[in-house]
Amino acid sequence: MTKFEQVKTDLLRNQYTWCVTGVAGFIGSNILETLLKLNQKVVGLDNFSTGYQKNLNEAKSAVSSTQWANFSFIEGDIRNFEDCQKAVIQCDYVLHQAALGSVPRSLDDPITTNDVNVGGQLNMLTAARDAGIKGFVYAASSSTYGDHPGLPKVEDIIGSPLSPYAVTKYVNELYGSVFETAYNFKSTGLRYFNVFGPRQDPQGAYAAVIPLWTASIIAGDTLYINGDGETSRDFCYVDNAVQANILAALAQGEAAGQVYNVACNVRTTLNELKGYIHSSLVKFDGGVAAPEVVYREFRDGDVRHSQADISKAASLLGFEPTHQIGAGIDNAMPWYLNSLQKEAEPA
Ligand SMILES: NC(=O)c1ccc[n+]([C@@H]2O[C@H](COP(=O)([O-])OP(=O)(O)OC[C@H]3O[C@@H](n4cnc5c(N)ncnc54)[C@H](O)[C@@H]3O)[C@@H](O)[C@H]2O)c1
Repeated sequence: MTKFEQVKTDLLRNQYTWCVTGVAGFIGSNILETLLKLNQKVVGLDNFSTGYQKNLNEAKSAVSSTQWANFSFIEGDIRNFEDCQKAVIQCDYVLHQAALGSVPRSLDDPITTNDVNVGGQLNMLTAARDAGIKGFVYAASSSTYGDHPGLPKVEDIIGSPLSPYAVTKYVNELYGSVFETAYNFKSTGLRYFNVFGPRQDPQGAYAAVIPLWTASIIAGDTLYINGDGETSRDFCYVDNAVQANILAALAQGEAAGQVYNVACNVRTTLNELKGYIHSSLVKFDGGVAAPEVVYREFRDGDVRHSQADISKAASLLGFEPTHQIGAGIDNAMPWYLNSLQKEAEPA
């Protein structure tokens, strides 16, 4: 039995209350669904800036009505300290996911990105410290490795940030650390590496590559690749990120209060990614044509290669990814097909 399987068995016997910020977002709504299926209570906080009611509706359809009754939602903003206090007051654990993601968005609007990502996390840490929370986990990011060329990425060797977003995620780690030094309040940072899966928004200017390309290939559109396609990433299926959050929240002793890479330790180039998406789509619809590809300029703020060393999370948390990239894309594909079809239907 893996560590996560043991933890899930324990949770089914013991009910705790979890605060999930960013609960209407991609990762947050997947965490919500998993916790409710484990009969946990969840208090969600979100302001719907990049999240959706439909993500909450989908989580609702995936659980029983008794499990759904364990969820309460606060529509509020992490920039507002009172909203944060309300969200954490009855909770045992906090999984802080709310933030403005995307490197390009932060280049366009560094001020709002900073307000939400830095000010919001500081509010959540302060409210959680005051409420005596047992375990606090926050979404950090692989962007913190910045311009450091070393591969695979090891937690304690980072470079200079390449975007305002990366700065905010690094500051999150600094606040996490200083709350332990100054207030003896531990928090655990999870450096996610390109998480993907159901409910990741395929629309909008800041869509992530997997949903964006899946939508383009389904529509028969040209695929635009920034750079030569040999840029690589360690793509992490969302279930792996959910697992890391739950393990990290319950971590004790030296495993708590650390920063961990969360990914699969596998590097996939964008050219390979295109192949994964197309071959997965073909399993569901044999008629889907291979995309026409146009290579264009490299994008500002993007790192060239990324691959996580996950041995720290494996040894201290018992983290074991359950899905590699191909299996994750196959799992997510019915959701993309379904949700993109819905978007295309006339209102
Ligand atoms: N998806 C990835 O690949 C990835 C990689 C690294 C880090 N992260 C981090 O993981 C977290 C979750 O990302 P995601 O991909 O699910 O993004 P997402 O945009 O789908 O979810 C973020 C959620 O936070 C909410 N939110 C934003 N600002 C808020 C505010 N001021 N108050 C309350 N709620 C607010 C949004 O409405 C949204 O529901 C973020 O912290 C992000 O920076 C994600």
